Amino acid sequence: MAPTDSPATPRHLAVDLGERSYPILIGSGLLGEGSPLADYLAGRQALVVTNETVAPLFGDATTRALTDASLDTVVLPDGERYKELTTLDQVYDRLLADAFDRSCTLIALGGGVVGDMAGFAAATYQRGVAYIQVPTTLLAMVDSSVGGKTGVNHARGKNMIGAFHQPRCVIADPDLLATLPDRELRAGIAEVIKYGLLGDYAFFAWLEQNMAALLARDPATLAEVIERSCRNKAAIVAADEREAGQRALLNLGHTFAHAIETATGYSSWLHGEAVAAGLCMAGHTSWQCGWLSDNDRARIDSLIAAAGLPTAPPALEPQRWRELMGIDKKAKDGRIRLILLRALGDAVVTEDFPDEALAATLNGF
Ligand code: NAD
Ligand code: GLY
Repeated sequence: MAPTDSPATPRHLAVDLGERSYPILIGSGLLGEGSPLADYLAGRQALVVTNETVAPLFGDATTRALTDASLDTVVLPDGERYKELTTLDQVYDRLLADAFDRSCTLIALGGGVVGDMAGFAAATYQRGVAYIQVPTTLLAMVDSSVGGKTGVNHARGKNMIGAFHQPRCVIADPDLLATLPDRELRAGIAEVIKYGLLGDYAFFAWLEQNMAALLARDPATLAEVIERSCRNKAAIVAADEREAGQRALLNLGHTFAHAIETATGYSSWLHGEAVAAGLCMAGHTSWQCGWLSDNDRARIDSLIAAAGLPTAPPALEPQRWRELMGIDKKAKDGRIRLILLRALGDAVVTEDFPDEALAATLNGF
């Protein structure tokens, strides 16, 4: 698929982090002719980090957008199971073989897996170099490309090795989503619904009205969804870059989701699918706590179902759930902290919930 030839005026948001502030550009054609990508390079050397699926789709367009750079590309294997330290060796090897110096820029061209790995390579190569996020999945456009969380998985836990390292820019061209499989589009919608639930009730209600258009990839709806999601995320990241507090709300549903992904070996469930089930579980626990009404809980499940996403997790023994949830990064001093809902659009990070409420959720699905 060839990106559109000339970029329309992009939507422009800012992640406001003082000297580490950066723009999020959202617009059709941003990877086509006249692409602003080269404007954000730190120096002349650039390494495109992508994968074997994305490279044939958008590798050439990216290379054309960087004609004046001293450029190389590293193509990683595709899949969450490759999001690990050994895969990163390929990136470090190429950087060193090409004598890339500290003024180089990595271009993360791909979904969240590529973005997290390229970002971590950038955070660690020569103690930190620049990178640009060019997300190619909906999930990456609305979530993983923004906010500077980078890293890889360990067999014992998801995203357990990582660093905060902000990109210089995020360039989100919704045209690139034309080739995205439906299942991956739906996985991204889980993170979109998350924003509505955790702090933007109006967005949640808007999604209830616009889910069909979103699933049909209506361009205006896609652009609106990316912008509203990024606006939510940028505001939270600007307020709490290092997750000392409020940023943890972005992990709504994720304590359950990471347990699902770890239990299933990062293979059968997509991250977004696990998040979808996790949102329903968080809703269920909140309902058990008496914080959500029957109707609120039903609306969560209905919106997740309308997106074609799972509303329940795979069967796991309650003790296994607890083991897996206990090693999540949100667990503090051995106690499980959860993000729960006091209302639709109002999430809270808390250890203060009755264990019976969580037990009912872990037993109840
Ligand atoms: P992904 O990167 O695996 O991409 C999904 C699939 O789509 C892959 O097979 C990929 O090659 C393919 N693909 C990508 N773009 C395509 C396109 N335009 N057309 C066709 N195929 C395309 O998965 P994802 O859902 O983008 O990201 C999930 C990852 O993101 C997880 O590892 C998760 O932990 C991470 N994540 C990170 C953050 C963060 O803040 N850093 C936030 C959320 C999720
Ligand atoms: N996706 C969670 C975060 O960026 O904090």
